[in-house]
Amino acid sequence: MALCSFERLLVSFLVLVVVCAKAGLGTTVGCVERERQALLRFKHGLVDDYGILSSWDTRDCCQWRGVQCSNQSGHIILLHLPAHWSENTDDYQSLRGEISPSLLELEHLTHLDLSFNDFGRRPIPPFLASLTKIQHLSLSNANFSGRLPSQLGNLSNLLSLDLNLNFNLHSGNLEWLSHLTSLRHLDLNFVDLSKAIHWSQAINKLPSLIHLNLQYCSLPPLTTPSLSPVNSSAPLAFLDLHFNDLTSSIFPWLFNFATTLVHLDLSWNDHLNGSIPDAFGNMISLTYLDISHNQLQGSIPDIFGNMASLERLDLSVNKLKGEIPKSLSNLCRLQGLSLSHNNLSGQLPQDLLACANDTLEILYLSGNQLTGSVPDLTGFSSLQALELDQNQINGTLPTSIGQLTKLQVLDIGSNSLQGAISEAHLHHLSQLYYLDLSSNSLTFNMSSEWVPPFQLNSLILTSCQLGPRFPSWLRTQKQLESLDISNSNISDVIPGWFWNLTSRIQAFNISNNQITGTLPNVSSKFDHSIYIDMSSNYLEGSIPQLPSNLAWLDLSNNKFSGSITLLCTVANSYLVYLDLSNNLLSGELANCWPQWKRLTVLNLENNQFSGKIPKSFGSLQSIQTLHLRNNNLIGELPSSLKKCKSLRFIDLAKNRFSGKIPTWIGRNLPNLMVLNLQSNKFSGSISLEICQLKKIQILDLSSNNMSGTIPRCLSNFTGMTKNGTLTLTVAYSYSFYNSFMSFSPKSYDDRELVKWKGREFEFKNTLGLVKCIDFSSNKLTGEIPKEVTDLLKLVSLNFSRNNLTGLIPTTIGQLKSLEVLDLSQNQLIGEIPSSLSEIDRLSNLDLSNNNLSGKIPRGTQLQSFNASAYEGNPTLCGLPLLKKCLEDKAEGAPNASSYEDDIQQDGNDMWFYVSIALGFIVGFWGVCGTLLLNNSWRYAYFRFLNKIKDWLYVTTTINMARLRRSLQS
Ligand SMILES: *[C@@H]1O[C@H](CO)[C@@H](O)[C@H](O)[C@H]1NC(C)=O
Ligand SMILES: *[C@@H]1O[C@H](CO)[C@@H](O)[C@H](O)[C@H]1NC(C)=O
Ligand SMILES: *[C@@H]1O[C@H](CO)[C@@H](O)[C@H](O)[C@H]1NC(C)=O
Repeated sequence: MALCSFERLLVSFLVLVVVCAKAGLGTTVGCVERERQALLRFKHGLVDDYGILSSWDTRDCCQWRGVQCSNQSGHIILLHLPAHWSENTDDYQSLRGEISPSLLELEHLTHLDLSFNDFGRRPIPPFLASLTKIQHLSLSNANFSGRLPSQLGNLSNLLSLDLNLNFNLHSGNLEWLSHLTSLRHLDLNFVDLSKAIHWSQAINKLPSLIHLNLQYCSLPPLTTPSLSPVNSSAPLAFLDLHFNDLTSSIFPWLFNFATTLVHLDLSWNDHLNGSIPDAFGNMISLTYLDISHNQLQGSIPDIFGNMASLERLDLSVNKLKGEIPKSLSNLCRLQGLSLSHNNLSGQLPQDLLACANDTLEILYLSGNQLTGSVPDLTGFSSLQALELDQNQINGTLPTSIGQLTKLQVLDIGSNSLQGAISEAHLHHLSQLYYLDLSSNSLTFNMSSEWVPPFQLNSLILTSCQLGPRFPSWLRTQKQLESLDISNSNISDVIPGWFWNLTSRIQAFNISNNQITGTLPNVSSKFDHSIYIDMSSNYLEGSIPQLPSNLAWLDLSNNKFSGSITLLCTVANSYLVYLDLSNNLLSGELANCWPQWKRLTVLNLENNQFSGKIPKSFGSLQSIQTLHLRNNNLIGELPSSLKKCKSLRFIDLAKNRFSGKIPTWIGRNLPNLMVLNLQSNKFSGSISLEICQLKKIQILDLSSNNMSGTIPRCLSNFTGMTKNGTLTLTVAYSYSFYNSFMSFSPKSYDDRELVKWKGREFEFKNTLGLVKCIDFSSNKLTGEIPKEVTDLLKLVSLNFSRNNLTGLIPTTIGQLKSLEVLDLSQNQLIGEIPSSLSEIDRLSNLDLSNNNLSGKIPRGTQLQSFNASAYEGNPTLCGLPLLKKCLEDKAEGAPNASSYEDDIQQDGNDMWFYVSIALGFIVGFWGVCGTLLLNNSWRYAYFRFLNKIKDWLYVTTTINMARLRRSLQS
């Protein structure tokens, strides 16, 4: 019995062994133990935070996640473990760690995908090159770094290789590539190939290559040897070379693929210049051609009309000129055409693209010098986006536009269109979300009952005639994110219903109208508002509670009154711009300054603010421009201001500030360019520290109680010795995540009133050219230091109405840029230096009421000034004074010609304009900021963004996840 049961046990054991053996070695299921062990060692090298490999513990490794075995041999042929995005954790569920050499046991592997995992900036292991059966290898976005192992050239069976999105890989030489004779698909985006000067030869040797992605590789221009027509055996159909350093030496190489290429992207190669070769006309298979964002010159070749397969053509943001070739109307399959931001001119052809009437979806011609009228687009039934803005298109807008039922974007702003916009123009545009008709001479002519068919995100109607009533059809627009109805002749109150439409608005501009009434509490009306401009209206009452997330607020030039304490509800660190100037505001400067860490421009001038500058002003650590002119402010300047080291522009004129001019101004504000303390009660002497303001261009201490002498160290003001313009670049920091299309960037020009030839002029764009010193109307004593004549670019010098003694420096003639010189009402003695007559530009001179003596230098323009310039100097003689000098009693009557008119004329001519740009820096995306700055780059940029948004999104999220993990560990 015992034996019997033992036998039975033995039998069942043997059966079990047989079954197991069958499972292991059978033809349908199986897992080679050696390979199973290899996978376990591979797993051991990894950190599996998400349990991705939790199934990797059973006997049959062919059932494990991401593993596939051959039906025939049971060998592992596929290892597919890309990280997946998880909606739940908002993160990539990725493996990390290192790749174990145990993978080499998987000799039969044909497919290896480890993309989107995190290999911690390790190099790509060269041993992968021993997996010689591999056909598909994807290691994209897996955080590999270092040099690409040239051993990969051993993978002679490779069909596709994807190393995209590893930001720290580089390769100095692509010679190894040429061994991959089976390769059909190659993606090396973001691999630094700047040293791989022979990259094109390597590509030439790949007889199977169809698809090649080399974006963002810093590819160098082709060198001369490769220019010679090296025939390429690659049958390339898809070639993407955007964002590299290529020049037009790439063109001959490209024409190797003339008959095979279907998709070609050469955009964003900054140095790609010269004209577009005619040989493009031979690329008859091309459906997609993007050469935008380069420096291409010359005209668009007629031969482009031969590329009959073209569906997308983008030549935008180049320097192309001439007319749009008529031949483009042969392109019957065209879906998208962008020629924006070139110098194209000539009439917009009426039959442009007539043959693509069924297919055309996108037509961008913005930012050229095109003339003529808007073409009749009847029948362009697929058109989704029409951008003709920033041209010189005239005439009226055809009502046929209203039939384009698929139209989503219509931008014809900044042209010379006239006439009325009626309901018919917008009749069937139910898909429209972006409408810009700004800066034309268009009049809106809608009935008050009109209900538009669309819901707009963006409505830009600057300088359209919308008023006088507030447009009632706006009431229907509940999706608005950007609204600009500035300068549109609205003289009305803001209707109550309007505040129910603003909750999504991010940018809001109703400036330059005649809008009256008061503002309600709008803090809860704008959920997303970051930019508000209501300047130059007749708004009154107190400033209400405002949205707390504002970044930019301009309420200047209204009739707001009362205190500004409610402003403190703008409690975010993104406020960069606050302009409340030219209102009737009063009370003390409320104490909410510490919360505005990024405030860069503060303008409160021309109000009735009183009290002292609060100490907390010192916490405005980003402030660059401070305008407090013409208020009732008193007291000394708080020393906390010395912490505001970015200050470049201080205007405190026309208040009642007192005390000494603080020495920390010179010591702590090295960037100061404008300091205007005019018409206050400052006293004491001018300290030597002020000479440390090397960048100062305008220094006005006039009409105070300053005493003592003028410091000789004035010659340290190198800002006044050199050409160079005062520029004010304001960083506009705030984050936004959606609707890029709807935000119109704003610019800011700093401005300053400068006393000029006896009057105050506002200088704005030309401010940088004004370099002046005004110490007039004080009690200064001593001599005029001759060092002041070292300030060679000085344009205006005013020391009048002091008690200055001594001589006018004989070197005064060095100040060749001087236009205004006023030394009147002092006790200066001696003769007028003859060098003064060498200043050709001098158009306003006043030396009156001194003790100057001798003869006014003769035979020069000094005679051309009015006699009043010299009066009150008892012993001064000669023309234009009537008093003759002893030696020339014989002279005739003075020729006091009327120069007054010329001077007047000159004063008006001061309005020459130079642009002072305002830079925006948007959150951590510095690049977005600089691009947003320039309106003309906006759309191009958005398209660019569309192109890259996927990888940007992917990489920022994955890198954030990495960062988070490294912080946790
Ligand atoms: C489009 O153009 C073709 C040829 O120019 C013309 O025959 C056709 O009628 C047009 N289609 C429409 C919808 O206008
Ligand atoms: C448009 O401008 C052209 C000159 O560029 C002029 O000849 C033409 O008359 C203008 N058309 C209209 C409708 O104003
Ligand atoms: C604005 O919306 C609120 C809440 O939805 C509603 O009660 C109010 O009547 C609306 N006001 C106007 C003027 O439409």
